[in-house]
Amino acid sequence: MIRGMFVAAALVVGLSSVAALAQNATIAERQQLMKGLSQAGRAPGAMLKGEQAFDLAAVQTSLKTFADTAKKAPTLFPVGTETGNETAALPKIWSDKADFDAKWAKFGADAEAAQASIKDEATFKANFPGVVRACGGCHESYRAKKN
Ligand code: HEC
Repeated sequence: MIRGMFVAAALVVGLSSVAALAQNATIAERQQLMKGLSQAGRAPGAMLKGEQAFDLAAVQTSLKTFADTAKKAPTLFPVGTETGNETAALPKIWSDKADFDAKWAKFGADAEAAQASIKDEATFKANFPGVVRACGGCHESYRAKKN
């Protein structure tokens, strides 16, 4: 009887740490996806500042990464991933999930619209900054500030 209880308790502890591992993996996956956004934004950012020659194909590749990420990201904030893996995600994501998801949808739609409207350097300069404004806009509300 006592031994059975120990086994059951060990099983529960084991299962909950498996769940914790899965949650940390989900958090790590979304953080990785976010790093991909930064990487994708780097070359167009340098082009905007005139530090790098305009390259339409590179801009389009970045916009595709933005659009793909916007589709995937909302699935990587399931309930149960509020804490762990040094997440910077704020609790407001889960209390205001509809708005958080809407922000991703808008970012994705803006990236897709820019894919269609950016055809040269002038249209790039006119349309790209509006797309990346979403980064700071969302972080302002939903990401903890670094100390
Ligand atoms: C709709 C909301 C939203 C949008 C849009 C968004 N982010 Fe984030 N971002 C987050 C949240 C939430 C986190 C915190 C994730 C975590 O730590 O679990 C984050 C984290 C990050 C991180 C840190 C990743 C790490 O190393 O842990 C970077 C870098 C980042 N975002 C870049 C960007 C860039 C660049 C863009 C725009 C091109 C962008 N994000 C757009 C919500 C957003």
